[in-house]
Formats: sequence, C-alpha cells, structure tokens
Amino acid sequence: MKTKTKTLKLVNRRNLSPRTHAAVPLRERRLHFGNKWDYAPAPEESKNYVIAPRHELFMGGRFVPPKSGKYFPSINPATEQTLTEMALADAADVGAAVQAARRAYDRVWRRMPGRERGKYLFRIARLIQEKARELAVLETVDGGKPIKESRDFDVPAAAAHFFYHAGWADKLKYAFPGRTPRPLGVAGQIIPWNFPLLMAAWKIAPALACGNTVVLKPAETTSLTAMRLAQIFQEAELPDGVVNIVTGAGETGAALVNHPGIDKLAFTGSTEVGKKIARAVAGTPKRLTLELGGKAANILFEDAPIDQAIEGVITGIYFNQGHVCCAGSRLFVQEGIYSTVIKKLRDRIQTLRVGNPLDKNTDIGAINSKPQLEKIRELVQSGVDEGAELTQSSCSLPAKGYWFAPSFLTGVTHAHRVASEEIFGPVLSVMTFRTPDEAVARANNTPYGLSAGVWTDKGSKIFRIVNQLRAGVVWANTYNKFDPTSPFGGYKESGFGREGGLQGLAAYCRVS
Ligand code: NAI
Ligand code: MG
Repeated sequence: MKTKTKTLKLVNRRNLSPRTHAAVPLRERRLHFGNKWDYAPAPEESKNYVIAPRHELFMGGRFVPPKSGKYFPSINPATEQTLTEMALADAADVGAAVQAARRAYDRVWRRMPGRERGKYLFRIARLIQEKARELAVLETVDGGKPIKESRDFDVPAAAAHFFYHAGWADKLKYAFPGRTPRPLGVAGQIIPWNFPLLMAAWKIAPALACGNTVVLKPAETTSLTAMRLAQIFQEAELPDGVVNIVTGAGETGAALVNHPGIDKLAFTGSTEVGKKIARAVAGTPKRLTLELGGKAANILFEDAPIDQAIEGVITGIYFNQGHVCCAGSRLFVQEGIYSTVIKKLRDRIQTLRVGNPLDKNTDIGAINSKPQLEKIRELVQSGVDEGAELTQSSCSLPAKGYWFAPSFLTGVTHAHRVASEEIFGPVLSVMTFRTPDEAVARANNTPYGLSAGVWTDKGSKIFRIVNQLRAGVVWANTYNKFDPTSPFGGYKESGFGREGGLQGLAAYCRVS
C-alpha cells in the first residue's frame, strides 16, 4: 500500500513546475529516484538502434557479396569500437555495378518520362524524412559528428535535395529554355566522409532527376548511411540498377574512375585525389566535376556586430569538427577590434561542449579517423614550431576515441603552413588587416577558392568585397548556410563545376 502511494506521488510531481519540484526535500527525491537525479535516456541511446554485422554491395537492386570475398571494418570514431564490416569491392565488382547501371539506363530510366522519375525522387525524400532519427543516429555513430548536426542539418538537408530535384525532373526544358536537355548516361560518383548521407543525396538526386543512372562509392570510414539509403531505394521500388553502391577505399574509387563504361564522374574530396582523377579522365569523353578542398577567409570589419560575428566565426570553423570543405579556417580581423575579438573567442571556445556525439548537448564530436587526427595534430604543431601561439579549450577529452579540443592560432603569418594548408579540424588561424583592399588581397592569396565570409554593418561594403573575392560561395553576416536551390562549387584548386540549383542540373545533362 505504501509503495503505491509513493508511485502516485511520483507521477504527480512530474507535472509540477520546476520550482515546486525543487521544493521536494532531497531525502524524498532519493526515495523515488535513488541517488541520481538524472534525465531519462534519449531515444538516440545506443540500445535503440541495430546495425547488421555485415553489409554487402548494392547492385541491380539487390545486396550481393563482393567477388573477392573481402570485407573491411567500419568503426565508431568516438569509441574505436567496430560497428560492422563492409564489403570490399574490387575492379570486377565495380564492373558489375557499372553494367547494372548501364542496363537500367538503357532499358528503363532514360525512357521514363520526367514526371514518373520525379515520383520516385519524392518517394525517396519522404522515406528519408520518415527514417530521419535512425539515419541521424547511424551518421553520428559511424562518422563521429554530433547528433544535433546529423539530426538538424545532414538528414533534413538530404531530404531537401531529393525534394528539390524531384521538382525538376519533369521541368528540365524550363531549366534550359529553347534547348533540349538529355541525360549523359552512367554517372560514377565518389564522396567523402564529412557529410556522408548529404553528399550521397547531393550527388544522386540531380543525376536521377536528369535521367542518368549511378554507381556511387562512399568513403571507407562512413559507408553506413549510404547502405541504409540503398534499403530506402528498395522500399521506394526504384527500378533495379538505377543506383548501385560499391564500398571500398581508394582502389575501389580508382576502378570506378578508370572504368570505360562511365560517362560522367563527380568527385568530392581532397585536392590531391581530385588532381589524380583529372589526369586519369583527361583525353577520355568522360565529363568531370570536382569539389575539392578550401581555406576560406572570414573577414571581420570593425563596424560588424561583434557578438553575432563571433557566433558566425565559431560555427564557421567548429561546426562538424571543422570537417567542412568550406570551413572558415582563416579569420582576418580589422586591427581596431583585434584584442576584443581574441578575448571573446577565448571565452567562447571554453564553453563549447566536446564529447559523446550521441548526446544532444554536444557541440564538437569525434574526429573522423586516426589519420585525420594525426594530420590535425601535425599541422597545429607546425604552426607552433613556426612561431604562432596556440589557444585551446581546457575541456577534458574522452580517453577512448579520436578527439581534438577547439583551438585557435594567433600570430599567424601567410608563410605559415596553417595559413595555407587545409587543416580540416577544429582549428582557426587568426590574422589581422587594416584596409578593405588589404583584406581582399590576403583572403584571395590562397590556391583555393571555395568560400568566404564577410562581417560588416555596411551593405555597400558587402557588395564591393563580395565581388572582389575569388570564391564560389560568399556569406555575408552569416556562415555555413546551405540550400538545394543554391549552386555550390569552387575556383582554382577547389575544383570546378557547380552542384545544386539550376547550374547543378547542367552537370548531368547534354544540352542541344
Ligand atoms: P580522399 O580525397 O582520399 O577521399 C575522398 C574519397 O575519394 C573517398 O571516398 C576515397 O575512398 C576516395 N579516393 C581516395 N583515393 C582515390 C583514388 N585514387 N581514386 C578515386 N577515389 C579515391 O580524402 P581523405 O584522404 O579521406 O582526406 C584527406 C584530406 O582531404 C582531408 O584532410 C581534407 O583536407 C581533404 N578532404 C576534403 C573534403 C572536401 O569536402 N572537399 C572531404 C574529405 C577530405
Ligand atoms: Mg566509421
């Protein structure tokens, strides 16, 4: 009887306001909750998802084992535990996938009216929304990014890309007025590990909308959500072979690049591999688009709203552990506000939460892989050796897994490696400038040209600076905002071709 009364009391108290709740004496609270006063487990907790121990290749609408019989592990970089093993596709598997894509292209997809293709894309978009929570968890455990990013950015943006391109599928003739767009054929697509599901959506959706079929190769550390997407394709009853997915590392990618049955290649990743691909494709009829690295400049003028700008700078570099090709990794501060900005940055990085990526309060998750962590450490050390001063958050880092505390470097000069090489980690290089012309000259002084940011209260200054910056995307008084309608891509060593928007469609059509 006594126990029953207590249970009732507990239920009632849940409905009380926090103040009344706090007024319940501690001894009584312990009676109900034990010694812990804790939150209920979040639905993202690990026991609420299941990952198959093995993943096969996806081709011709079915999951098939690799001809080599080989598999490789995919780990959770936050715990170093193996999550599953993925099939290792060799050249023969890639060949079979290309063949399946060709068959689907010739027999079904290119003949299908755009109106019908669009229906499949809408269906895929809705299924992504339906399975959003599961996809977000998989993305987070496989890649290390915080759940609040995979849940609030990656997955909704992936769905948005399918919705957007679903809309184009039957309207292509309006995209190219007075001309006739036709598909290219089989597209080979190679994607990186920083936005695995989003990059898959970003590449697959426009290809399919324009009538092409696809062989996709995800990055070796993050293939899980692509394989889940393959199940979504089955559920959406996408015709067999329209999308095929081969898993593996660089050799699998190279086999795809060199396959003669590919009509178009789209690659996102390092400039080094991008150059190799460009060389391999030169002299062949294959079309190519490359989205490579970046070393974006964020230019902060004295007249900017400083606190808002600091938040933008923080998101620009620490979002997704800095694993972002358009990360604002160089900050140029106008001299008059330099000391204020440094003080604010120092305070702000101290409040960023680093740790368990599945915790919805985490700001900075795990670095994607051990080699990437080593690369970040090596570059930061080079900055210190060359005379820059390192400021790091004093947060404690988990013992297991790959972690790097949010950091920034001051006293950086253009000659330092940290000012010109892509770090791809939560590390900002801070420099100063005096005049707008100097800011533009220094921002443009890089082999890359993917993105940039400008912070000022003066609209005319924004327009003047934006037009002088050699970068594919320039954000003004904001940073890292994306939309499927907006073309994305770079200049110089950041690659060529655009993805998203009208311009992105052109990369998947032959227009006559
Ligand atoms: P990566 O360029 O080696 O990997 C990207 C993709 O290319 C992966 O799917 C990989 O398996 C594939 N690949 C590797 N070698 C290939 C080859 N020879 N032919 C065809 N495909 C190949 O990038 P990695 O090594 O993972 O990262 C190295 C650096 O690249 C990072 O530290 C970062 O600076 C930059 N990076 C830039 C990205 C971007 O979004 N622009 C994304 C990932 C990395
Ligand atoms: Mg992984």
